[in-house]
Amino acid sequence: MTDEDLVSLPKAELHVHIEGTLEPELMFDLAARNGVELPFGDVEAVKRAYRFTDLQSFLDIYYQGAAVLRTRDDFAELMAAYLRRAAADGVVHAEIFFDPQTHTHRGIGFETFMGGFRDAMEDARRNLGITSQLILCFLRHLPPEDAVATIEAAADHLEGVVAVGLDSSEVGFPPELFVGAYDRARRLGLRAVAHAGEEGPPHYIWRALDDLGVERVDHGVRCLEDPQLVERLRRERIPLTVCPLSNVALKVVDRLEDHPLPKMVDAGLFVTINSDDPAYFGGYVGDNYAAVAKTFGWDLTRMAELAANSLEASFQARSGA
Ligand code: HPA
Ligand code: ZN
Repeated sequence: MTDEDLVSLPKAELHVHIEGTLEPELMFDLAARNGVELPFGDVEAVKRAYRFTDLQSFLDIYYQGAAVLRTRDDFAELMAAYLRRAAADGVVHAEIFFDPQTHTHRGIGFETFMGGFRDAMEDARRNLGITSQLILCFLRHLPPEDAVATIEAAADHLEGVVAVGLDSSEVGFPPELFVGAYDRARRLGLRAVAHAGEEGPPHYIWRALDDLGVERVDHGVRCLEDPQLVERLRRERIPLTVCPLSNVALKVVDRLEDHPLPKMVDAGLFVTINSDDPAYFGGYVGDNYAAVAKTFGWDLTRMAELAANSLEASFQARSGA
């Protein structure tokens, strides 16, 4: 099996943060264009800073990087670069996270970033044949009232948005804090996902399912610590958006060889493979497929099942409840 065989599998990417696709080269271009000062001398210095010890050590740098994004064209350029790269990996459909609070808190309005995203998404649909939708994420380290205010402010800008999600620092910020924002989102017709069980304990996954009503769990790798939870996820066929190279980069696991993915598959869980923040973690979705196939010795049939899972787990394929 070659990397080209893996590329040829039609797949969906369901766990990628658009701000996490900002490559250092584009970061420098935008910083120069917008007169933003970066705490790094050059592209090599940026790459050297990408040595993370945990989720928080990454987030500190990730939010800093996003500060170079200012204009509608900046957001369009970021999205266009991701969609080009994803299409080259055989992605036919992407459901893409964005963090509105990261931008609104800097005084950038919804019409600026949503307009830029949509320009590039429409262009990629026409020219590359890749479809995409957006998932609006609440930053869980900010107050729950801020999440409610964010969904209220987003209400007039929801074209292209399929769902809400929950990201940023997990431990200490459990899902149930965000019931109000999720209820509001549901009334606006949006679906729901949440990051849970990346660094946080299995009971955060229960709360995401029961209190937030999520239809997919992002990461979810710690579910294996709770057999009853595994049974529920299996029985209800809840998709888990697993990000293997991210989990190594953020030290959720020491090495890919130690990743629970084979156990998750053996337990009958509905897993998909995704990149998370590819510019920061050293690999797009194709790199994640290739690394998984090589590390676990999985053949093309097994990899095709994982690709098929991603299409089936997409909101495009799953009609609303
Ligand atoms: N976890 C939580 N928040 C994030 C991540 C992640 O992996 N990537 C970007 N924001
Ligand atoms: Zn993520």
